[in-house]
Amino acid sequence: MQRIGIIGAMNIEVELLLGNIELQRKEKIAGFVFYVGKLYGKDVVITSCGIGKVNAASCTQVLIDRFGIDGIINTGIAGGLHKDVEVCDIVISSNVTHHDVRKKQMKNWFPHQEYFEGDRELIEAAEKAFENSDVITSSYHLGRIVSGECFVDDTKLKEQIIKGYSPHCVEMEGSAIGHVSHINDVPFVVIRSISDKADGKATISYEKFEKITAQNSATIVMNMMKIL
Ligand code: ADE
Repeated sequence: MQRIGIIGAMNIEVELLLGNIELQRKEKIAGFVFYVGKLYGKDVVITSCGIGKVNAASCTQVLIDRFGIDGIINTGIAGGLHKDVEVCDIVISSNVTHHDVRKKQMKNWFPHQEYFEGDRELIEAAEKAFENSDVITSSYHLGRIVSGECFVDDTKLKEQIIKGYSPHCVEMEGSAIGHVSHINDVPFVVIRSISDKADGKATISYEKFEKITAQNSATIVMNMMKIL
């Protein structure tokens, strides 16, 4: 891959990357700021899209149309859903989907599929990057990441999502980035570090672990640049 697009939702999720970019230029389109440059010798465009799937979808399409990228990485934090996933762990997307869109709608109408597969090359690079890194986390998991238009901090909703989708974690952008990447034939992967367990204590946990987990995920992405 020649030039990689890297998207975080919030500034905190990309600040470590922006601190290390050799910046060539900066461009503002549709309210998103795109930082074009090199990260560990690799051509990148780094941006933050804001929270939620509409922002993420719009930003991804601009990245593809205007910056000639040929791979997309979404980095950030998420709520853990799988029983083996602990706070500070890393989840790499085997695939992504929306937990708030009916499967039947996805299947019967455009884009005619229920989920979007993460790219093999990007997944393998993320796995290697984890192994080479010293992030403060115990393990990584390869699994499904789901997204929806809400912060999940309720055990009943958490159980419903687990029952419907068997995901490893939940967040609010990854499925939209995967969806838009897929319909444009651009390979993607979502990498998330776990800030909370998407339950009644999620907000407290999120506030405590937001910064360290955002940095965990960004550290993996930086190490991926040395591999790709
Ligand atoms: N991002 C981090 N934690 C989350 C949660 N519990 N729900 C949705 N998005 C999240």
